Amino acid sequence: MSDIAAIVVAAGRGERAGAGVPKQYRTLGDAPVLAHTLGAFAAHPAVGRVLAVIGEADAIQYKMCLSCLPDTRRLLAPVSGGNTRQASVHAGLAALADTPPAIVLVHDGARPFLSPALITEAIAAARAHGAAIPGLPVTDTVKIVDEAGRVTGTPERAGLRAVQTPQAFAFAPLHAAHERARAEGRNSFTDDAAIMEWAGHPVHVFPGEATNMKLTRPEDFDTAERHLRRDATLV
Ligand code: CTP
Ligand code: MG
Repeated sequence: MSDIAAIVVAAGRGERAGAGVPKQYRTLGDAPVLAHTLGAFAAHPAVGRVLAVIGEADAIQYKMCLSCLPDTRRLLAPVSGGNTRQASVHAGLAALADTPPAIVLVHDGARPFLSPALITEAIAAARAHGAAIPGLPVTDTVKIVDEAGRVTGTPERAGLRAVQTPQAFAFAPLHAAHERARAEGRNSFTDDAAIMEWAGHPVHVFPGEATNMKLTRPEDFDTAERHLRRDATLV
């Protein structure tokens, strides 16, 4: 068995995207968003196990995703997520802990466009650095604002990165950091790198991909359909 596992978190409700059905189950091209995402990991030769973390009410929609995949042999039985992304990742880590991989990739189900090269790069960077995340230079100037809407600062843009997933980690320290965060009631981390930073681990950033967008708002689905059509005409 490969020593690399991927956790794909897909237990959110997609409030900002609207549309009634959680965004990871909306159709993109000819398959649900989550089928595209799972397919990217299931087809990567270095990834031995793929674990989806899904909402308790979403079992039927998840099965529909599986029926769109050419090969589901590397997919583990899905586990139920929690009320926060952090809790959902923890559920995935807990499910892997009995037979832990050396490296775990944690990825958003709502990011269907990651390339095989990005997965390869994440794995290599995690092997080299222990904790590694994809990031892109920020093009907008970013302001720090107080509750009254007053600007309190302008960070130097050259030092900023907009980070993505897959985030890749040595399994044991990520699992330990998650356990510690839970035990200490720290439950509002928005990515796994932040938990590792909090636990005192260095985190390395490697270049992300502009196309690796997270489907978040209604208009993102138009962009995604256009991206898919453009890709389709290339093959
Ligand atoms: N996620 C999860 N469990 C949660 C919340 C989020 O598994 N309790 C997952 C989502 O399914 C998504 C990823 O984390 O794939 C990134 O979260 P986000 O883009 O915020 O998705 P949602 O929480 O579903 O969307 P929204 O915040 O608009 O409701
Ligand atoms: Mg959310």
